[in-house]
Amino acid sequence: MSKRSLTFICQNCGAAAHRWQGKCEACGEWNTLAEEGAERPAGPGRKPGKGRLFALEGLSGEAHDAPRLPSGVAELDRVTGGGFVRGSVLLMAGDPGIGKSTLLIQAAAAMARAGHRAVYISGEEAVAQVRLRAERLALRDAPVELAAETSVEDIVATLSEGKTPRLIVIDSIQTMWTELVESAPGTVTQVRGSAQALIRYAKRSGAAIILVGHVTKDGQIAGPRVVEHMVDAVLSFEGDGSHQFRILRAVKNRFGPTDEIGVFEMTGAGLREVANPSELFLSERDLGSPGTAVFAGMEGTRPLLVEIQALVAPTSLGTPRRAVVGWDPSRLSMVIAVLEAHCGVKLGGYDVYLNVAGGMRIQEPAADLAAAAALVSSLANAPLPADAVYFGEVSLSGAIRPVAQAPARLKEAAKLGFTRAVVPEAAKTEGGDSGLKASFVASLSGLVADIAARGNKSRHSESGRGADE
Ligand code: TYD
Ligand code: MG
Repeated sequence: MSKRSLTFICQNCGAAAHRWQGKCEACGEWNTLAEEGAERPAGPGRKPGKGRLFALEGLSGEAHDAPRLPSGVAELDRVTGGGFVRGSVLLMAGDPGIGKSTLLIQAAAAMARAGHRAVYISGEEAVAQVRLRAERLALRDAPVELAAETSVEDIVATLSEGKTPRLIVIDSIQTMWTELVESAPGTVTQVRGSAQALIRYAKRSGAAIILVGHVTKDGQIAGPRVVEHMVDAVLSFEGDGSHQFRILRAVKNRFGPTDEIGVFEMTGAGLREVANPSELFLSERDLGSPGTAVFAGMEGTRPLLVEIQALVAPTSLGTPRRAVVGWDPSRLSMVIAVLEAHCGVKLGGYDVYLNVAGGMRIQEPAADLAAAAALVSSLANAPLPADAVYFGEVSLSGAIRPVAQAPARLKEAAKLGFTRAVVPEAAKTEGGDSGLKASFVASLSGLVADIAARGNKSRHSESGRGADE
């Protein structure tokens, strides 16, 4: 036996192997095994089989107050479910440069201004750099406590002195290291060890901790998927470089919903909250061109209108292309299959591109109808009415199925000046006092016929937009 136990840890999935291998047997990735020192047991001087006795308690006992403290950033509170829970640990994941540090210094400043102790530990930037950013954000007067540190033991020791902070930001977990683990910072074992130590401190002290985690090219939280399982909530901060807005989404939340989103806009003076995202997503609409449909969606409890754009173009390839941005590719395949099988729309000779405008990502099946309308509109070269919204789920038989929260969707559309809605027939029963003129569709073939008729009409008469229905 060697003096020091060494293991090889897969940097992708965290699986351990006793000898080096080219391929990880657990996740199948190549070249991900790295030699790391084994973790030492956390408790000092524990002998196996000699545990401390503890008392078991009933469910009816006194529940310790798990009060939430709103961060002061309303869009962030919406996603966490009302604020930071005492003693909880939250992972904020996102691409480098997306604005994680900016959002968190803003949240820490808001907390500090409200009179709570807020600490910001940066492992990536020097204190001066963080100050510079704070200056740009006009936050210099906020009493946030700053430090540039990476040793978890030092951080815990320092924070244990004095009043327990209400919020601690650790930017980022990949730069932290703990003495309990012998591997280099950034490795799976080190990240896991550091996260464990910080989680233990949060539970013990009641402070809320936010860990910043970088995401790798393929969207995974770099190295440590393992951290995701250890924390109470995982928020992902998304957006792309070409758009100003950023979306905060809960991927996991032990204390709140996971379907709410927070919308921010990156401005010269930091992140601005966007209270009415529909206006933002529709602001640069391309009115009157074929292939665009407005989808009345829901994100959690908030209705959200977005534009779905489709382009159907003759293909020069043997296998036509199907490309999707912002929606589920398998749902696109399904909608195309239903159009072909039940509506006589042949797309085999066409490339199909589908894009959700503005960098938004839709997860609801309710977008089926809007996607189908955009596809048919592009194929028939027939613009859809500019004042209409669409929602409904397409079933494999070609029927349009009702979706949840139809009244809220209709109300939002009416608020933004839309005057008609193309909706599933079953939405009739849900009361339509929104003031929109509803066109009820029972099947996808009915919708296809309507759009094709528009196409013919606009080809035959110059005005195009006339007395349809
Ligand atoms: P940052 O918060 O450092 O990103 P992360 O911590 O996720 O890596 O944000 C960096 C980007 O944000 C950078 O490209 C500049 C931009 N930015 C602004 O546009 N306005 C601002 O006020 C700030 C502080 C940053
Ligand atoms: Mg940063």
